[in-house]
Amino acid sequence: MKITNICCIGAGYVGGPTMAVIAEKCPHIKVTVVDLNESRIAAWNAEDVNNIPIYEPGLNEIVANTRNKNLFFSTEVDKAIDEAELIFISVNTPTKTYGTGKGMAADLKHIELCARQIAKVAKNDKIIVEKSTLPVRTAEALKSILDNTGNGVQFQILSNPEFLAEGTAVQDLLNPDRVLIGGETSPEGQKAIDSLVDVYANWVPKERILKTNVWSSELSKLTANAFLAQRVSSINAMSELCEKTEANINEVAKAIGMDSRIGSKFLKASVGFGGSCFQKDILNLVYISKAFGLNEVADYWEQVIIMNDHQKRRFSRNIVQTLYNTVSGKKIAFLGWAFKKDTNDTRESAAIYVADDLINEQASIAMYDPKVKHDQVLSDLNYLETRSASENEKRISTFDNPYAACENAHAVAILTEWDEFKTYDWKRIYDSMLKPAFVFDGRNLLDGEKMKAIGFVYQSIGS
Ligand code: NAD
Ligand code: UGA
Repeated sequence: MKITNICCIGAGYVGGPTMAVIAEKCPHIKVTVVDLNESRIAAWNAEDVNNIPIYEPGLNEIVANTRNKNLFFSTEVDKAIDEAELIFISVNTPTKTYGTGKGMAADLKHIELCARQIAKVAKNDKIIVEKSTLPVRTAEALKSILDNTGNGVQFQILSNPEFLAEGTAVQDLLNPDRVLIGGETSPEGQKAIDSLVDVYANWVPKERILKTNVWSSELSKLTANAFLAQRVSSINAMSELCEKTEANINEVAKAIGMDSRIGSKFLKASVGFGGSCFQKDILNLVYISKAFGLNEVADYWEQVIIMNDHQKRRFSRNIVQTLYNTVSGKKIAFLGWAFKKDTNDTRESAAIYVADDLINEQASIAMYDPKVKHDQVLSDLNYLETRSASENEKRISTFDNPYAACENAHAVAILTEWDEFKTYDWKRIYDSMLKPAFVFDGRNLLDGEKMKAIGFVYQSIGS
């Protein structure tokens, strides 16, 4: 089938950027991104393209080029489903917060609702593409819903997981390492795969488009995230050993990364990985493994999360210990709140957990992040339900400039690796702080020797 009309359900961090790039590269295809969240759709349609809801370098230009030409954002879900030949499902699949599998399994209620809505609305044959990250064999459940509640319409289900990373989403989409498409081995399944291959082939070299069966595709996505997160936990485990032995984690990472079998990426020691997916996807993997009775497999992967939790806690505990075993009434400046640089996404950011620990110790947090606003910070803390919203409000303030955040602080903690932090006038910050002036660099971002020369007591991860 030659695709001329695509619908994407879910206008989030994946749906928005992915569809913008498809629209840019396929001017002959009409792409409509729909969402139930009216304010999110309104923001995607914001007159000033700098006010779209997701910050990603280069995204606003692409949206400006394509919006209302062949890219549309709408809340009219049924209309978009009806018109499309191919429907991406790109809704959120968070960890369950209730019932069986609470805290572990992926919550598939949004996925199921999409399937039911498609089944209700569709009047002609459609290709349904799982873009969300899903437990292996979810396509089976989707197929059962679509085939049993539909009106005789034929559906083909493909798995096409997304591998973009936030902060580099546009580059990752324009130049992906690979595009993975899983489908049924039947002739109809192969035809559906080919239709989607033709969409990507508008800009992705064919040799980078990988075709597999559905289950391999679903499981490959979870596996990729588990392997990436495992590398971060592995280097972070070594960072603790470095701190005890006077080895330096940056030197160790460089030395092992030059081994071409290991490779240099994802070896940056940090305060701990965050983001909406690593933890969620590993927990999901652990849950599935346990469900099959594979307890050793489950324990093996769970340790990646245990290590990450330990790393976050260790960072806050070290701040308290270094500041003479008390931060009560002290001002700790936080530089960064997003889970990594170049994004406004804060989901599962290490900063949230470090702040929560320090507030438990009665510290006051003064936060500056170039892309994160006060309301988001408060909502992240309130979500933990550690204390009342009014207590959080009292303990955390946000600033729109870093110098004000650091003034009269006892310590600065760096939680996100924003490039701009490296360019600050650190002497000016030092002069405005209480002495001794401490810097806890949770991202190994700054030049330690220079910081010490200014007068800071400077600590980084793993040295
Ligand atoms: P998100 O929360 O930013 O966006 C999901 C959107 O879906 C929300 O705006 C929500 O309102 C909408 N939605 C939910 N149910 C709906 C329904 N029934 N009808 C219409 N809209 C509905 O999530 P995200 O970060 O874009 O992630 C989406 C999926 O992609 C997840 O499964 C995630 O694991 C996966 N993923 C995310 C990333 C990433 O970098 N964020 C990367 C790869 C894969
Ligand atoms: C990750 C994967 O990299 C993507 O391929 C995947 O599509 C995505 O998850 C997803 O499924 O959601 P993302 O979470 O956006 O992307 O960002 P990463 O660059 O992977 O960083 C994740 C976390 O690990 C961040 O907090 C980052 O600061 C941290 N990290 C990363 C380190 O601490 N050290 C490193 O060396 C690398």
